[in-house]
Amino acid sequence: MKKELLYQGKAKYVYQTDKPNQLILAYKDQATAFNGKKKETIIGKGRFNNLISAKVFQFLHDKKIPSHFIELINDTEQLVEKTMIIPLEVVVRNLATGSIVKRLGFEEKTTFAPALVELYYKNDDLDDPIINDQHATLLTNTTEEEIELIKGLALKINQLLIPYFEQVGVKLVDFKLEFGRNQSGKIVLADEISPDTCRFWDVETNSSLDKDVFRQGTGDLLSVYQEILNRLGEIK
Ligand code: C5P
Repeated sequence: MKKELLYQGKAKYVYQTDKPNQLILAYKDQATAFNGKKKETIIGKGRFNNLISAKVFQFLHDKKIPSHFIELINDTEQLVEKTMIIPLEVVVRNLATGSIVKRLGFEEKTTFAPALVELYYKNDDLDDPIINDQHATLLTNTTEEEIELIKGLALKINQLLIPYFEQVGVKLVDFKLEFGRNQSGKIVLADEISPDTCRFWDVETNSSLDKDVFRQGTGDLLSVYQEILNRLGEIK
């Protein structure tokens, strides 16, 4: 049962439930980009993020990746284990695009094999700066071993998700993960995995099936999110 609102982020509300260790994530119909500078209400978006993320987390759960996900409740809500979010954005890149092209001058679509893992400090006031492993341990109350564990999990998740999306004609270009610490101190995958947090390109056309259509104003967000949900629905 949903109790008090604990927190709201840009894309979801977090509610306490009657069980101390369980939370409800309620996805908002809100699209934001550029650290909230671009913002729009898009009715139906929350449902897509919730349903897509639940499918991906269920798949990862079946593959024994520890995460906060418990179950889907309805179209816009899911039940998760309570964690303390570690303020890191863990980005995995298979192909160069987005900020790494702007920041470091890699040519668009350069392949990274092995995949690149980057850490960003999750802090809106500082605009989520990129940091190294030592900064991460100092800023996020984690040990060197825990940062290694987080990076290892991120790469393992990448290895699982590449073929998962590929089977439905979707190239996993890059994505962002967040991790949390549960009540027993264990680090688990948290937050969401959706077209808000991943770059998905159609394998045939390389067209974007993710939030880049909103960031760049190049397409209709709802129709590409619907496309991702439809394709994931084809997986047995
Ligand atoms: O912008 P950039 O190229 O660094 O983004 C890399 C990946 O991380 C993209 O898939 C993007 O959607 C995701 N990301 C995110 N939240 C952020 C920054 C990036 O989900 N705050």
